[in-house]
Amino acid sequence: MSRKPEKPKPPRVSRWEGREKPDWLSRALARAGALPQAEAEAAIQAGRVTVNGRVVRMHLAPVPPGAVLRLDGKPVSTEAPTHVLAFHKPAGVLSSTVRQHRVGTVFELLLPQLPDELTGFTWHAVGRLDVDTTGLLLFTNDDKLVAHATSPDSHLPKRYVATVFGVADDAKVEPLRQGMALDDGPARPAEVRVRDARTVEVSITEGRHHQVKRMLGAVGLPTQALRREAVGSIELQDIPEGGFRLLTEAEVREGLRYAGRERSEP
Ligand code: URA
Repeated sequence: MSRKPEKPKPPRVSRWEGREKPDWLSRALARAGALPQAEAEAAIQAGRVTVNGRVVRMHLAPVPPGAVLRLDGKPVSTEAPTHVLAFHKPAGVLSSTVRQHRVGTVFELLLPQLPDELTGFTWHAVGRLDVDTTGLLLFTNDDKLVAHATSPDSHLPKRYVATVFGVADDAKVEPLRQGMALDDGPARPAEVRVRDARTVEVSITEGRHHQVKRMLGAVGLPTQALRREAVGSIELQDIPEGGFRLLTEAEVREGLRYAGRERSEP
């Protein structure tokens, strides 16, 4: 049986190609810090939200750029600033990236501490740490910053300090400096400093699953404890365990090399 020649398919062109994509309504309210997303959905359904003067009850309704939003009659600025929190993760809590799964996660510790002006935002963890890893974990209301800081393309260094079993020395850690083969592909060369026979500092610009532990394990230095001390040039410093501090705009711009939502579009 002869088959009909296939019609050439038109190229897939996004409706918003070349234009700014609209946000949906509940997300726009959450990004603006007016209400967390679940509460925004309820407020929309209750008729408390207007877009350009008209009540909109669908939380997935698109919000065109420049639209005027009001919640309970009060204007909501959709120009939400980027906020970043530096949190000191203790051992034993999960670093979930999903805010809803709060029990036993970093969100359970962090969210109750936030001052009123920061509670309306939807917070995203910037990457993950293993449950037993301690140290610096960033949170932000800006999902583009999450993509920027976690992408290997940004080459943003993450500095870890491992307490190891075995005796560390320069010869042993040399393969990490050269770039070593891991079972999920080659790792980029890491910056490594042997602080003493049991303590090794490792800076990497990727964030693969258990990466530091796997790299050290592969050279006969299994990890006993791991702590992240810095992301970019943001240092954990003296943030108490379980506590946080809000980064300044300059720290976000320079320390995380983040130019902002608009300029960071791919
Ligand atoms: N590398 C690891 O092995 N674990 C972490 O938590 C982070 C980096």
